[in-house]
Amino acid sequence: MIVAERVTDAARSFIQRIRISRAAWLRVAVAAILLITLPFVFRLDGHAHANWLQFLGRFHPALLHLPIGLIVLLPALEILGARRPALREAADFVLRAALALALPTLALGYMLAYGAGDTGVTVARHMWGAIALCICLLLCLLARPAWAMREQAHVYPALLVATLLALVWTGHEGGSITHGSDYLTRYMPGPLRVLFPSTSPSGAAVDSFYSQQIHPIFESKCVACHGASTEKAGLRLDSYGNLMRGGKDGAVIVPGKPETSMLLARVTLPPGDRHFMPAEGRTPLTSDEVSALRAWIRSGATPTATSIPGIKAATQSTEPPPQPVGDYGQLMPEIVGMQRGVNAKLVPVSAKASDGLILRTADVASSFGDAQLAAFQKFAPYIVEADLARTAITDASFDTLKTFTHLRALHLEGTAMTGANLGKLSSLKQLTYLNLSGTRVSAQSVAPLKNMPNLRHLYLFNTPAQPDNATARSNP
Ligand code: HEC
Repeated sequence: MIVAERVTDAARSFIQRIRISRAAWLRVAVAAILLITLPFVFRLDGHAHANWLQFLGRFHPALLHLPIGLIVLLPALEILGARRPALREAADFVLRAALALALPTLALGYMLAYGAGDTGVTVARHMWGAIALCICLLLCLLARPAWAMREQAHVYPALLVATLLALVWTGHEGGSITHGSDYLTRYMPGPLRVLFPSTSPSGAAVDSFYSQQIHPIFESKCVACHGASTEKAGLRLDSYGNLMRGGKDGAVIVPGKPETSMLLARVTLPPGDRHFMPAEGRTPLTSDEVSALRAWIRSGATPTATSIPGIKAATQSTEPPPQPVGDYGQLMPEIVGMQRGVNAKLVPVSAKASDGLILRTADVASSFGDAQLAAFQKFAPYIVEADLARTAITDASFDTLKTFTHLRALHLEGTAMTGANLGKLSSLKQLTYLNLSGTRVSAQSVAPLKNMPNLRHLYLFNTPAQPDNATARSNP
């Protein structure tokens, strides 16, 4: 009698369970479909969206460790639970908690990418990995009761393994977004690295100007946000092909036309501008880099040209370390006074006095002439860089400039210089950079500069001295 009762009880509870799990199946199926359709409803199209999305999204990296910890704990509890049933009971709770945390983590991650306008292969892989992971957890939840009651031995363990694999994959792709895809392989021992060949980056001739001079600029200053991992504004700068393909607003480089190339415009805006690149206060391009970029675009932005008219750039940097200047401490009150005034400014290179001063004239260029420059002679030995571009100085200033003995970079582009007396600069032994673009210097007048040992970057666009006169046009 008792046995018969037991049998009917068991049957009843079995039927109940079937009914419950049918409803559960339905819930899981609906949840899975919602998760899968999410990326199609809110497409990651490279456009940034509301700021509050990014605000919340930035909690994603903080939250994600919690579900990871719980998921990793899960198989340990299940295995050890074979001996200690209490652990099995805990596992059920841990599984539910993992799911309860994984779903908001996914949501925040999605808000982060959607809000910031992130796209790219790695972002997409990370996203699909996370969706797969959540679906695996849902299925685990569904399959576990039957396993715990020893009715179904294999489905739940298999799903658990799938969950762990999805976790490793998703975590790795997520790490690649923040640290770069070569994070794990960069310091890998040689023999192992053979298994992970690094992709040849540029898609251009190895000895081309692009590969030697342009690609490295993007590589160090832009691909963190415009690379395979993250494509801000749908723009990738990690290969020649991608660069020329452009971003969400179309081409960023117009061959032959630096003035209309959006990329050049973005890197030459005032650094405070909200469209300035690189964004978020990353290290801006140096004036050398901007000049190289401009010259390359002007000459047609090709992937093959090995030299660019008007540019003489060293292929490897063998520049001697800059020589320290003396202490300008006692002149400081005067320097600070000038920084406040409307005159040209002297700006310290760094907090270290021996790093020298930069002479800036950008705000007063049109009224800055030979007399004004002469007034700076008392600071001459401390000035390491002088920006005199588009000022009113003339050839007469070479007498002043030759006393700037520690000068390393000199901008004279767009001035009325003709180059007579240019030879006087040859006493400036530290000078590595000289820009004479847009002046009237001739090949003859620059000839004496050939003997300057450290002068590595000499710019002569739009001058009669430009080696290839075919491209020396003022309006390309
Ligand atoms: C910290 C991340 C970050 C870095 C580093 C960065 N960018 Fe950007 N870039 C962005 C974001 C975000 C956008 C989209 C918002 C905007 O247009 O300002 C963008 C947009 C652009 C666009 C516009 C593309 C289009 O089609 O609208 C260009 C061009 C660009 N960046 C060039 C560069 C260059 C060149 C560098 C390297 C010197 C660089 N970026 C470095 C984040 C970055």
